[in-house]
Amino acid sequence: MIALGCDHGGINLKKAIMKYLDERNVEYKDFGSYNDDSVDYPIYAYKVANAVASGEFELGILCCGTGIGISIAANKVKGIRAAVVSNEFGAEMTRRHNNANILCMGGRVTSEEDAVKFADIFLNTPFSSDEERHTRRVQMLSDIENGKFSVE
Ligand code: RB5
Repeated sequence: MIALGCDHGGINLKKAIMKYLDERNVEYKDFGSYNDDSVDYPIYAYKVANAVASGEFELGILCCGTGIGISIAANKVKGIRAAVVSNEFGAEMTRRHNNANILCMGGRVTSEEDAVKFADIFLNTPFSSDEERHTRRVQMLSDIENGKFSVE
């Protein structure tokens, strides 16, 4: 199950992604916002990030104008690895290497067609859990988050 959210800057991308998910019978929940009224992106980032961090939703997709603000907000929630993506390689690698659990995109910088392409790649690419260097690095991210990380 996928958690979706956006602000006014990302509403068109989110609608395009919902259409793509509907066509493939992929289940999702839309956490808003629901129209192009100006809203505060941290609200929707927080809702989706908590839905994913709780384990209730496998992955999330968040869209704002640039993808940046909504990703910064989502990454404040413990357990979230939200990645702003603007090309196909990034969509694939952030799953394979970073085990990103939220894809962020910007409606003012990415076309609907590309956003659907990036979402398709993101949702269908697994984390390279069999490669120790990637599990080690993602563990380091958690350690930083939990105050358990130190370097010389
Ligand atoms: C809203 O105007 C805009 O700031 C927002 O959509 C996003 O781009 C923030 O990073």
